[in-house]
Amino acid sequence: MGTCLYYYTGTGNSLWVARQLAAKLQGTELISISAGNTAPAKIDSDRIGIVFPVHMWGLPRRVKNFAREMAADRDKYYFAVALNGGQVAATLLQLKKLMQARGLTLAAGFEIHSPSNYIPWGGAAPAEEQKRMFAEAGKKIERIAGIVSRKESAPIDKGPLWKNILLSSLLYKLSFPQVPKMDKKFWVDGKCNSCAVCEKICPAKNIVMNGGKPTWQNRCEQCLACIQWCPKEAIQYGKKTPGYARYHHPEIKLTDMLHGQIVSSKQ
Ligand SMILES: Cc1cc2nc3c(=O)[nH]c(=O)nc-3n(C[C@H](O)[C@H](O)[C@H](O)COP(=O)(O)O)c2cc1C
Repeated sequence: MGTCLYYYTGTGNSLWVARQLAAKLQGTELISISAGNTAPAKIDSDRIGIVFPVHMWGLPRRVKNFAREMAADRDKYYFAVALNGGQVAATLLQLKKLMQARGLTLAAGFEIHSPSNYIPWGGAAPAEEQKRMFAEAGKKIERIAGIVSRKESAPIDKGPLWKNILLSSLLYKLSFPQVPKMDKKFWVDGKCNSCAVCEKICPAKNIVMNGGKPTWQNRCEQCLACIQWCPKEAIQYGKKTPGYARYHHPEIKLTDMLHGQIVSSKQ
């Protein structure tokens, strides 16, 4: 019995949703896959969920790998929640296909529109807009919890066909191989005080402190946790980020992020 909820997050939106769901589904275990935790689904949990952000109209590398490696049990009920800034496109269909290849059925796949954390394209949305999005998200979480608790099948959320083809099939496939080296655009300004939060928070262990400053090792997953959580806002990406406000989910704290990397929690 119970639910095993795996989550991956860069700025806490997915963790927040995972926690909200856990509070509504009795006997839920939350497990971070940020630290490569591929622990098999608990034998006693009959529902298995994955909560994650959409990256470049598809699955982040870690989630893709997780779906390929997680314990497979055809008798379990599998569901997924994809957080996104408004363009889920065919991300959940990609997950469904990956699971199908392993003989598993994604019974339900839900998208949740949330504030975008993609800072190269702009800073945090105004607080009022964030509030409105979380209120909407709360309603959807309520619905998801009902469907999941009854172990119902539901249509997989997706974007319009042209976006699924152009963005998820074409652009995702072109961008995905470039992601590990996209960290070349990170740089650190004079505000860096060598606290090493960036090194600790990086799920890919891609940051090494060198002479008291972060250096990126070209195995980036573009979760953007380093730039968004830097307490001094000293990490930049390209030319425009010095002028952009940082973002993380207002109810998720740095300690939640760091804690989640190593332990799972019963809620
Ligand atoms: C590298 C990257 C790519 C993204 N690509 C998309 C995308 O294709 N479509 C979309 O709607 N949102 C996209 N986003 C926004 C995130 O999916 C969204 O902000 C999500 O809520 C972040 O969740 P998290 O806080 O759990 O990391 C992207 C974010 C990042 C960092």
